[in-house]
Amino acid sequence: MKKPVILTIFGTRPEAIKMAPLVQAIENSGDLVSKVCVTAQHRQMLDQVLDIFNITPDYDLNIMRGGQSLSGITTLVLEGVEKVLMQLKPDMVLVHGDTTTTFAAALAAFYCKVSVGHVEAGLRTYDKYFPFPEEMNRKLTGCIADIHFSPTETNFNNLVREGVSPEIIYITGNTAIDALKSTVSVSYEFENESLKRINFNNKRIITVTAHRRENLGQPLKNICLALKEIVQKYDDIEIIYPVHLNPQVQEPVKEILGELPGVHLIDPLQVLDMHNLLSKSYLVLTDSGGLQEEAPSLGKPVLVLRNETERPEAVEAGTVKVVGTDKNTVINETLKLLDDESEYRRMAHSVNPYGDGHASDRIVEAIRYWFGMTDKKPASFR
Ligand code: UD1
Ligand code: UDP
Repeated sequence: MKKPVILTIFGTRPEAIKMAPLVQAIENSGDLVSKVCVTAQHRQMLDQVLDIFNITPDYDLNIMRGGQSLSGITTLVLEGVEKVLMQLKPDMVLVHGDTTTTFAAALAAFYCKVSVGHVEAGLRTYDKYFPFPEEMNRKLTGCIADIHFSPTETNFNNLVREGVSPEIIYITGNTAIDALKSTVSVSYEFENESLKRINFNNKRIITVTAHRRENLGQPLKNICLALKEIVQKYDDIEIIYPVHLNPQVQEPVKEILGELPGVHLIDPLQVLDMHNLLSKSYLVLTDSGGLQEEAPSLGKPVLVLRNETERPEAVEAGTVKVVGTDKNTVINETLKLLDDESEYRRMAHSVNPYGDGHASDRIVEAIRYWFGMTDKKPASFR
C-alpha cells in the first residue's frame, strides 16, 4: 500500500506550537508521509516556533500583511492552499483549532475534495461573536471535517449534540500538553535578557498576555489600567507581559504601561522561554486560549480576561476563573489572590483536564485506523 500523504497546515503561533508535536509524531510513524504547509498568517511569531521545533515547511505561503483583514487572510489562504493541494495531492489535510488559516485551509481542502482532519475540535461558547471570529471559524471547520480530534469529553459531547457521528470523533487530549512535556525543565536558563535579570526567588511574578480581537480598544485599555493599579500597590510583584506584535495591541499597552516600575513589556517570547516563565510564575492573567490549558497543568492559577471561555474544564477544576475586562473586577480578583493565601492555595494546584502528553500518538493511531492501516481504534483520553 502506498503510504498516505498527510499535509499539516497552520499559520499562527498557537497552531504551530500545538501542531509541532503532531508533525513529529507523523514523521516518526514510519508509514505516513508528513508534509507541512505554513500560511504564515503570523510571520515572526510563527518562525520562532518553527525554529525551536526544527520544522522546515515544505510550502510557505508567506501571506502576513500589516493590519490584515479577515477577508484578506481568508482569500490569500484559500488561493494559496488550493495551489499546494493541486500540486501535492495529499490524502488528508490536518488543520488546527479556530484561526482564519484553519477555516480557509479546510475550505480549500473541501473544494479540492481532500479529506480534512480537525485537531482541537468541538470547543464552543455558542456565541458567534465571542470569541470573534474563532467561534465561527471552528464551527465552519467542524462542518467540513471528515474526522474530528477532540481534546476532551466536553468537546466530544458538543459535536455529538450538533449531529456529528461519534464514530468519527476521537477524544485525544490536547497536543498543547504534549508540547509542554518537552519544553519545561527545572534547570532551564532563559534566553530573553529581561527574564535573565528577574529575581524569581524574591518576587511574585504575574505573567500577562492579552491580544484577542474582541478585547482590542477599551477592554484592553481597562486591562492595562488595572495592571497599573495592581503593580503600584505591592513591592514584591513583577508583571511580565510579552506583547503581541499586533500594532493595535502594542500601542495601548506601551502607552499605559511603558516605563512603569515593576512592569516588563517584552517582545513575544520563544516557546521554551514562555513555558518556563509560566512554570516560575505566581499567577497568570490572560485572554489566550493556550495559556488556559498550559497554566493549570503547571499548577498556576489563571484569571481569564474575557467574558466567556470555551475551556470550562479547568474552571470546573477550580484553577481558572473567568473575570472579564472590567477594570475594578480585574483588580479585585487579582488582589484576592495576592492577599489571601488560602484563596491562592485553593486555585494553585496542578490539574490535567486537557491532556496527558499523548494526544499526538492518539491522533496518529486514529489516522492509521481511518486509512485501514490498523483495525484498532485508539483508546480515548479520559
Ligand atoms: C490570530 C488568530 C487568533 C489567535 C491569534 C494567536 C485569526 C482571525 N486570529 O489573531 O485566533 O488567537 O492569532 O496569536 O485567525 N503580527 C506581526 N507579526 C506576527 C504576528 C502578527 O506583525 O508574527 C501583526 C500584523 O500586523 C498582523 C496583526 O499582528 O496584521 C494581526 O495578526 P492576525 O493574525 O490577523 O490576528 P491575531 O490577533 O494575531
Ligand atoms: N506563547 C509564546 N510566547 C509568548 C506568548 C505566548 O510562546 O510570548 C505561547 C503560549 O505558551 C501558548 C501559545 O503561545 O502555547 C498561545 O498563543 P496565543 O496566546 O498567541 O494564542 P491563543 O492561545 O489565544 O489562540
